[in-house]
Amino acid sequence: MTTTLRPAGPGRDGVYSICANGRAIGGVHLTPLGPWGVGTGWILHIQVLPSRRRRGHACVAMLAAEEVMRGRRCTRMAAAVPEGNRAATGLVQALGYAPDSRRLAAGVRATGLPSGVRMMDTDEREEWCAAELHRYAESLRAAGWAAPAAQARAQARLDHPTAPAPYTLGDGAAVWVAHGVILALTAPNPEATATLLRAAGHVTASQGLHEMAIDLSDDTHMKACTAAGFAPRTRYWGKPIL
Ligand SMILES: CC(C)(COP(=O)(O)OP(=O)(O)OC[C@H]1O[C@@H](n2cnc3c(N)ncnc32)[C@H](O)[C@@H]1OP(=O)(O)O)[C@@H](O)C(=O)NCCC(=O)NCCS
Repeated sequence: MTTTLRPAGPGRDGVYSICANGRAIGGVHLTPLGPWGVGTGWILHIQVLPSRRRRGHACVAMLAAEEVMRGRRCTRMAAAVPEGNRAATGLVQALGYAPDSRRLAAGVRATGLPSGVRMMDTDEREEWCAAELHRYAESLRAAGWAAPAAQARAQARLDHPTAPAPYTLGDGAAVWVAHGVILALTAPNPEATATLLRAAGHVTASQGLHEMAIDLSDDTHMKACTAAGFAPRTRYWGKPIL
């Protein structure tokens, strides 16, 4: 049995049919652009017809997808797998992907900004963003990312063109939330984290959204997020493809 990827057609950039002996038995959606910046290729979605599963088709399709992304100058692959999706988790594990960050989500209510929280002014914002960029890039490097890839991912995280300014409690403690996603959070202790999460929830609810999300790359804010009602939603996986 020969498994191949075929472009799904004009106007469907990045969408491929997974074919077994020439017949479409599934599909995969790829992009060289994503939330981790230039150089990381994303598997946005993959599926195989239920009747054709567990025959290695997805595995071969993923390896072909890596080849496609290498051709788009990517040096890493990434995939977002919903929590509890055993088949997709087994698939990425079988292909050598390592667990990266985790997305958690929580419902929000407009409760008013907690006392002591205010929007940053322009100078504070510049200083805090520069420090946050450095801190995050260093944490990625400590986790094994090559320096340019770490820098690209850290930059992509804070490169939000329409985000309003971060909210701060002073002394560098701040949260930056845009369209229901917390882009960055720095806090000296769990109390400050909880206050900033409440502020982010209020800001998000005031925009008419019902839920906010945060990506955690380590356990620093995990306890405070769980206490604030966040639950795991998605696990990100990645691997180098040099
Ligand atoms: C995930 C999916 C694409 C896997 O397709 P597939 O062709 O069956 O996968 P493969 O046969 O190539 O499996 C490769 C390896 O992945 C793992 N795997 C696949 N399905 C698995 C399952 N149900 N449970 C545990 N591990 C699984 C195994 O390690 C497997 O190797 P093995 O069969 O030698 O044990 C398929 O189950 C699917 O279409 N699911 C629904 C859509 C979906 O959830 N997509 C992922 C969204 S991110």
